[in-house]
Amino acid sequence: MTDGNGESNGAAGPEGAESAGHSAAASESSTPEANESPPTAAPARPIGIVSDLHANAAALLAVQRDMRKRRIREVWCLGDLVGYGPHVSAVMSVILRNRSRWTHVAGNHDDYIVRVHRGEAEVDDLKASRNARAAIRRQMEMLDAEELERIVVFLEGLPKTAMPRDDVLLVHPKDASLPIYPGSDLVENHILGRQEHQAMRAYAEVPEGRLIVLRGHTHRPVCFIKGDDGWYDAGAEAGVIALDGRDAWINPGSVGESRVKGDPRAFYAVYDPGADTVEFVRLPYRAEAVGRECERVDIPVRPAWRTPVSA
Ligand SMILES: [Fe+2]
Repeated sequence: MTDGNGESNGAAGPEGAESAGHSAAASESSTPEANESPPTAAPARPIGIVSDLHANAAALLAVQRDMRKRRIREVWCLGDLVGYGPHVSAVMSVILRNRSRWTHVAGNHDDYIVRVHRGEAEVDDLKASRNARAAIRRQMEMLDAEELERIVVFLEGLPKTAMPRDDVLLVHPKDASLPIYPGSDLVENHILGRQEHQAMRAYAEVPEGRLIVLRGHTHRPVCFIKGDDGWYDAGAEAGVIALDGRDAWINPGSVGESRVKGDPRAFYAVYDPGADTVEFVRLPYRAEAVGRECERVDIPVRPAWRTPVSA
C-alpha cells in the first residue's frame, strides 16, 4: 500500500515564502506604518479523524486517498487498529510508517493482542465475542514473530486518552478503568452521551472551557453538540457541521467495519480547525472482496463485508 499522506510539507510553498518575505521587509523599516500588516499565517490544514480500522486495508486505502486529496497530513486515530479484518500486516505497516503524524489512543482489540502476546490472557478468556476472539487468534498466527513483537511494542505504548489540542480529547473507549456508563454503546442514548462527556472531562482532568470529545468503539457516527438549551443531536450524515466553539461529542464511525445498517462504506471525519467545522465522510470500497479474503485466511466474515456497496 502507498503512504496516503505522502505529499510534501506545505510550509515551504508559496504561503511560507510570502510570510518570510514580509517579515524581512518589516524588520528593515523603522516606521510604525510599515509594521501595520502582520505576517500572513498559513491557513490551518484540515485534520483526519479515523477510528476502528480493524485490519481492513481496502477501506484504509480509500480513506488515505481522500485525505491526500484534501491535503490532510495530521490524523487523530481513536483505536482498534487490529481485530476482525484480514489485513493486519498491511494496516499496521501503514500505521507504523505514519506514526510521526498520527496521534493514537488504544482500542480494546489493540489491548487484546498485547495481553495475549505478553501472556497476560488466553484468547479464549478475552471478554470478546467468539468471532472477535477467532480473528485475534488468526491475526497473531498470520504475523511472523518479529513483526508481531514490533506491532505489540507499538500497541502497548498507546495511551488511553490523548489531547492533540487543548480543547480536543481522544478516547476509544472500552476499558473498565474509564468512566463509561453501562449501555453507553447505544448511540441512540443521547443522555449517556452527555454524561460521558462530563465524566471524560473529569477522568482526563481537562479544565473548564471548550472541549470536543472524539470517541470510537461503536462503529457508528454521531455528533452531539452542546447548544444554548442543552445537548442536541446534530446528525452525522455525510456533510459539514459547524461547531461554533461549542462542546461536542463526536464519533466518526468505523473505517474498516461499518455497523450502519445497509451501509458498509468506510467512514471517517475531517476537522477544520480554522473554520471549526467537522465533516462526516463515507467512501465506497470493495467490502465484499474483504469478506472473500477473510474466508481465504479463515477469519469470520463481518456483516458489512457481505453487503454490496451501492454508493
Ligand atoms: Fe472496534
